[in-house]
Amino acid sequence: MANVAVIGSQWGDEGKGKVVDWLASRADIVVRFQGGHNAGHTLVVGNQTYKLSLVPSGVVRGKTSIIGNGVVVDPWALLGEIESLRKKGVDVAPGMLKVAENCALILPLHGRIDRAREEARGAAKLGTTGRGIGPAYEDKVARRAVRLCDLADRKALEEKLDHLLFHHNALLRGLGAEEVDRAELLAGLVEVAPRILPYADSVWRYLDGERRAGKRILFEGAQGIMLDVDHGTYPYVTSSNTVAGMAAVGSGLGPGAIDYVLGITKAYTTRVGSGPFPSEQDNEIGQILGERGREFGTVTGRKRRCGWFDAVIVRQSARVAGLDGIALTKLDVLDGLAEVKVCVGYTYEGRSYDYLPASMAAQAGVRPVYETFEGWRESTRGARSWADLPATAIKYIRRIEELIGVPVTLLSTSPERDDTILVHDPFAD
Ligand code: IMP
Repeated sequence: MANVAVIGSQWGDEGKGKVVDWLASRADIVVRFQGGHNAGHTLVVGNQTYKLSLVPSGVVRGKTSIIGNGVVVDPWALLGEIESLRKKGVDVAPGMLKVAENCALILPLHGRIDRAREEARGAAKLGTTGRGIGPAYEDKVARRAVRLCDLADRKALEEKLDHLLFHHNALLRGLGAEEVDRAELLAGLVEVAPRILPYADSVWRYLDGERRAGKRILFEGAQGIMLDVDHGTYPYVTSSNTVAGMAAVGSGLGPGAIDYVLGITKAYTTRVGSGPFPSEQDNEIGQILGERGREFGTVTGRKRRCGWFDAVIVRQSARVAGLDGIALTKLDVLDGLAEVKVCVGYTYEGRSYDYLPASMAAQAGVRPVYETFEGWRESTRGARSWADLPATAIKYIRRIEELIGVPVTLLSTSPERDDTILVHDPFAD
């Protein structure tokens, strides 16, 4: 019985929500293992649209949903999301949703620091979601984070706050900024504790037991591999590892628990926020892609930058994350274009590259080398079998597979869950 990890292979927003939802119907448990409420996953089920940030997408399908230890959790955001799901008729009771008791919390001060830092950076800003993700992970690694389990122990919580604020208030004082009010922070946490603690669980134990019992686990990644703190376009990245290995670390299972890694891949490229983007089309093409693809951030509403498919980046992602297959999404956005381009390599300072070099200067300076394809007039939207696709679109897909060295496992042809062509069942591996 295979367990599958689903991760984004570009800069996020590849359409993971729909694919995870599709796969979730065949899994027993869905696990988030990194990131926080910076993620935005949109699910369309019938005429209902769900926008999820923190709660695993499987919840809409009534699957047990897990927030693993690798996630940074804002308790207020989580409770808000649970409430908005309840209003849409999805009851997320404790037992249906389990949150790792050892996960680090995002506190109001983290959002404040995130936004203040971005403002101070001015034009050099990273373009974060402003949700406090980075500062929360910093506190976790610095061993001063408040973890979910701390909310159950007032004395431990107070000690943690002293330690945490000793650090942050010293910095804030130095910057001439307003210090964090300890009493206010404590009161907020004491108030939220009884509402969030019923969801706390020893997630690694639960998952170990379920895995031994032969249950199917779906690991739901957030963001994309190019936003990985190690392998992405540093420093224009998020603060967690987004590669498949994190599914094990961030949920408390060994690496052998992941049998198949599916990379969600958009048929073109988008990026939200700052940072290098070699195949960006800051022109009419980019505008067409953005409009047709409705490329606006789920979380922040920001307009996404758009460009041609970059095979170099997806090939690199496939290697560093160990992709077994990709789910290609939003092919229909390219319908009707006279020609379609794919970035197949870069040049930089007189040298050719078949990968994205690590230095910031090189990442900003590489120039794309394109291969041009004839477009297709026919609509691919809603296609449910390979035979419904025009030959030129199939040629485009085959070339992508060749360039990235990974097969297309699944093709998504509209946001509707049933508009999906399954080539290979990842759960069967
Ligand atoms: P942070 O994760 O809020 O710190 O933002 C760091 C970078 O990751 C920024 O460029 C964000 O736009 C990007 N980012 C974070 N979450 C997502 C996501 O879910 N989709 C796409 N980009 C994201």
